[in-house]
This record gives sequence, structure tokens and C-alpha cells, in this order.
Amino acid sequence: MPAGIRFLLDGKVRELDGIDPTWTVLDWLRGEERRCGSKEGCREGDCGACTVVLAELHRGELRYRAVNACILFVPALDGKALLTVESLSSPGEALHPVQAAMVECHASQCGFCTPGFVMSLLALYESEPAPSRERVNEVLAGNLCRCTGYRPIVEAAGRAFERGGGPRLAAHQAALAAQLFAIARTGTLVVEGAGRRLFAPRTADALADLLLEHPEAHILAGGTDVGLQVTKQHRELHTLVSLGAVEELSEAVRTRTHVEIGAAATYTDALAVLSGPFPSLAALVRRIGSQQIRNTGTLVGNVANASPIGDTMPALLALGASAVLRRGADRREIPLDDFFLAYRSTALQRSEFIERIRLPLPRPGLRFATYKVSKRRDQDISAVCGAFAVTLERGRVREARLAFGGMAATPRRAVACEAALLGKPWTEETVASVLPVLDGEFQPLSDMRASAAYRTLVARNLLRRFQAEAT
Ligand SMILES: Cc1cc2nc3c(=O)[nH]c(=O)nc-3n(C[C@H](O)[C@H](O)[C@H](O)COP(=O)(O)OP(=O)(O)OC[C@H]3O[C@@H](n4cnc5c(N)ncnc54)[C@H](O)[C@@H]3O)c2cc1C
Ligand code: FES
Ligand code: FES
Repeated sequence: MPAGIRFLLDGKVRELDGIDPTWTVLDWLRGEERRCGSKEGCREGDCGACTVVLAELHRGELRYRAVNACILFVPALDGKALLTVESLSSPGEALHPVQAAMVECHASQCGFCTPGFVMSLLALYESEPAPSRERVNEVLAGNLCRCTGYRPIVEAAGRAFERGGGPRLAAHQAALAAQLFAIARTGTLVVEGAGRRLFAPRTADALADLLLEHPEAHILAGGTDVGLQVTKQHRELHTLVSLGAVEELSEAVRTRTHVEIGAAATYTDALAVLSGPFPSLAALVRRIGSQQIRNTGTLVGNVANASPIGDTMPALLALGASAVLRRGADRREIPLDDFFLAYRSTALQRSEFIERIRLPLPRPGLRFATYKVSKRRDQDISAVCGAFAVTLERGRVREARLAFGGMAATPRRAVACEAALLGKPWTEETVASVLPVLDGEFQPLSDMRASAAYRTLVARNLLRRFQAEAT
């Protein structure tokens, strides 16, 4: 097996060796290949102008996912097929149905955003036969257009699906699957260039060994946080160990007692198992970033990143989740309550990684909800995120776990407020009586997202809303 990154582009095997492993797919496409259909708008995963589609084999099935090329490092292409807007039609060939519908519905003016919209719609068209209008909106929330307006674009999506005809790429599916199978790698990918190196092992054992060998390495999961460290903060990451290709960590499963989410499971993967037992958490996950971000970013990466405004942590804390940590052959499971130590500081030791998050299934009678308050509904970071889990006994609070993001240096539970609720009737009056306790537990910051006073008020109101909704 060759050392270089191997992937498919327009049906041809491409191999890249000796390259900077933190080179982004967008820079490679535009700078090296002169394939300039994919545009650069923000270089931080926000605008969708750089959207490309990755086709990959997943448990023997071919799947298409839209991703942001501007924050994706080239080694992430290994073993996959890359589709850009140029891949869709050659001169003399009919346009793809989503392109044809975009033309017919006048869904493009300056055209800067258009390739990104086309690629987002392409992934949807090739994967889901009859998406709802809501689903189309969800998929397009990560693509910004500043001049056409969204109505014709959404109309174009509708028209492409109405016309039917089924997935256009299906005709080449068997050939593509065979090619992907042929370039599938069994051992660790090593990419070295420009004074940097990246290792992408295939097994959790190899990952654990590499981290012992390279304790200085940065762990890379989906790269939706790490990518920005390179493109925006210009940080020098000399050694990276990527866990994205470790198949055993890409599982998100429901056992008899828990939902278990592996370190390489993307939000899109996790949604499939979260939706049943935790609809409120699933609804929140659907508001994390955009479809492109959810197709690459991981829930475990959100936890490891330990941002005080990361969206999943309040819910995980309220639901009593734990993290399985691994260092070499040693594993330990710790409650998330003990994981966040201080601002962006966690209980992870050198060479240790989170293998998976374990979320206990809700016991009968548990009332749970999580709420995100941000300036925009989609593609925005929380000002405050609240999550509440309460169990009642004969109308009184038997157990309460209340957690917040955006209120302190770490995502944190409101333990004094929880204690104040215990044994009390679950009423509006009770909640009103404990709000001063809640106020005293947090001294939030004022920053560009919200003032301290606003955050304090929102935290109170979220708890009141939960009481009203969970009664
Ligand atoms: C445009 C955009 C929108 C976003 N919107 C949101 C949002 O709405 N809400 C939100 O909460 N976040 C948001 N984010 C942040 C980001 O997407 C999430 O934090 C995501 O969950 C990170 O996961 P990842 O797999 O991409 O992590 P990576 O970027 O790969 O890693 C993040 C950090 O965690 C470490 N790490 C990753 N996995 C492990 C592991 N298994 N063990 C130990 N350390 C590990 C890495 O070393 C790194 O320090 C957004 C980001 C972008 C670019
Ligand atoms: S350039 Fe804006 S999302 Fe990539
Ligand atoms: S057509 Fe100009 S930004 Fe969308």
C-alpha cells in the first residue's frame, strides 16, 4: 500500500505524497489544480461557498456527504471520492437535475454562492428521494447567498425533486464502489511535508499506540475546530494524529442501557441514534453549525474541545453522561461532571483520548429538554444553552440536574439550584422561588454574543420555560 493520500477525482485515482498535511482541500483545488468552481468566502466553514461532496463506502454502502472544503485537510480525502461542481457535467453533457433546476428558477445572480448551493443540493438529491421543504431548508442553512434571495433557490430544489428521475450518480455507483474498494487502506496513512506530519491509523489500538509514541501530537477528529486553528489563527500544528478513519470509533449505537457515541461518529451519524430516546437533544444537534459541519464535526470533538459555549455539553451533563478515556491499553470511565476542570482545560492526560461518550437512556418519568439561544437560528454559536433533566415523584422533584453553557468558564451544572428544587412541588411558584439561587451560581461574561445581564435573564427564563413545558 503506497504511503500517499489516495482518492478519486472524476473517476481517476489521485495520489498526493509529501504534502503539508494541514493543506486544505479548497487551497489544493484552487491553488494547485486550478479548479476554481469551489469558491472561498469566509475560510471558516460559515458561508458554504466552498462546499464539495465526498462519496465514501460505509459498511458496504456508498454515501454522499456535503462538506466545507475550506477547513478540511487534504488527508481527509484518503479512500474517498471527491466531487466538485466541475465533476457534474462535461461540455455536451446534460446538466445535473439540480443544476438544470437552478437555471430554470433563476436561482443565481452573481453566481459566487451557486457552486456551493449546487453541491449541497447534489448530496441531498443523491441521498434522499423526497425531502420535505423543512429538510431542504435545513440542508441549505449552511449556504449563504447575498444577492439572489433564497426563494428561487429553494424553489429550484423543489423542482429538481418534483421532476424525479432518481439519483443521477446511481448509474456509476457500482463502478465507483469498486474503485473505492480498490483504494481502501488497511494500515496507517502517514503524510509528511512542509515540516509537518499527520498519522491516520485504522484501528483504535494503533491510535492509542501513536498517541503514546507522540505525546505532543494534536488529535484531529472532524477538524471543524482544528481547521480554524490553521486557517484563522495560523497556528503551527507540527504533528497530528487523526482518528477519522478508525472505523470502530465511528459507531453511534443504542445498547439496552445507553446510547454510545464513538469519537469518530459525526453529528450526522449520532443523530440516527439520538432522535428516538432524546428528541430534544436531536433537535439541538440539528442546529449545530450547518449540514456540512454536522457531516464532519463530531460530538466527542465538541466535548474534548471543552468550549464553554459548545452546545452538546449542557445536555450531556444534565443527562448524566460519562466519557470513556483511553491511554495506551488503559481505559477509565469518568462522569462528565468531573471532565471539565477550568476554561478549556479537561481531565485528559497526555496521550489520552476520548474513545466514546456514554449516555444513559432516560428512565421512565424523566423529563428532559435542552434549549439553545443564539442570535440566528442556524449556523450560530449559543449565547446561552440550557439543559434540564427532572424526575418527579407524586408531583414533587425527586431528582434534578440543570446545566448551562455560556454562563461560566466551563459548561457547568447549577448544583445549588438543583438542591433547592429537591422535594418541592414542580410548580411555577417553586421555580420562581429558586431563581435567586440560580442567579447566585453564575457570574457570566459580557462579550460580543451577549451581555452578562442578558445571559442571566435568559438562564432564568429557560428554566421557567422548561417548567411550563415539562408539566
Ligand atoms: C462554521 C462552524 C459552525 C459551528 N457551529 C457550532 C455550533 O453551533 N455549536 C457548537 O457547539 N459548535 C459549533 N462549532 C464548533 C465545532 O463544529 C464543534 O465543536 C465540533 O463538535 C468539533 O468536533 P470536530 O470533530 O470537528 O473536532 P476537531 O476540530 O477535530 O477537534 C476539536 C478539539 O478536540 C480535540 N479532540 C477531538 N476528538 C478528540 C478525542 N476523541 N479525544 C481527545 N481530544 C479530541 C482536538 O484535539 C481539538 O482540540 C462550529 C464550527 C464551525 C466551523
Ligand atoms: S469558504 Fe465559507 S464555508 Fe468555506
Ligand atoms: S448569487 Fe450572488 S451571492 Fe448568491
